[in-house]
Amino acid sequence: MFNIILFGPPGSGKGTQSEKLIAKYHLKHLSTGDLLRSEISAKTILGLEAKAIMDKGHLVPDAVVVGMIRSALDNNPSAQGFLFDGFPRTVAQSVALDNLLKEKNSEINIVLALEVDEEELVKRLLNRGLTSGRSDDTNEEIIRARITEYKAKTTVVADYYKQFNKVVKIKGVGTVEEIFDALRFEIDKRLS
Ligand code: AP5
Ligand code: MG
Repeated sequence: MFNIILFGPPGSGKGTQSEKLIAKYHLKHLSTGDLLRSEISAKTILGLEAKAIMDKGHLVPDAVVVGMIRSALDNNPSAQGFLFDGFPRTVAQSVALDNLLKEKNSEINIVLALEVDEEELVKRLLNRGLTSGRSDDTNEEIIRARITEYKAKTTVVADYYKQFNKVVKIKGVGTVEEIFDALRFEIDKRLS
């Protein structure tokens, strides 16, 4: 298995690049944000509880997202690898993920960290909010709260993986194709 974490702040292009990467490398895409939004659409209890938290721009409890990832790993036993998008977001989630992968004799091969400055992030998300229907995109206050939460709890995830030399920084500004090329270059280096 070849497992990738696509890392970066809200609006850095994780979802956009994930679509291209899973097609190119035949990976299973696991986005905890998408999984949570499916629960919201299905009006499950978990979804209702998560929505209240997501609408404030805060993080859902670790146990909830780790449980979703555990099920997704178990339900895809023949996957060639996983692309984690928006997960892990805390050090506790990173440790849990490492343990889950270890149970499957696997590990994270690379953490690709998209770097985009804050004003560009806000601009992108406000723009997406015009059409996305995502309630956490509708106003600047929530978007800034998501970025604050990222700085407080998620940037340390990159430090966690740095100790294992797994992190590669990627400039997340430019055309979608330019960024995709930079991601591919780093992945191909490790695959060959
Ligand atoms: P999640 O769904 O993961 O959202 P996010 O991390 O806030 O990031 P986004 O999905 O908004 O951005 P993205 O990086 O995917 O960028 P995209 O490609 O869409 O999480 C939502 C919420 O769920 C969290 O706040 C939290 O509450 C909860 N949650 C999820 N996972 C969790 C976890 N593990 N633990 C706890 N809670 C969790 O691009 C953004 C926009 O920019 C798009 O309009 C796109 O078209 C545009 N764009 C993309 N690339 C470019 C480019 N190169 N140039 C210009 N525009 C571009
Ligand atoms: Mg996304």
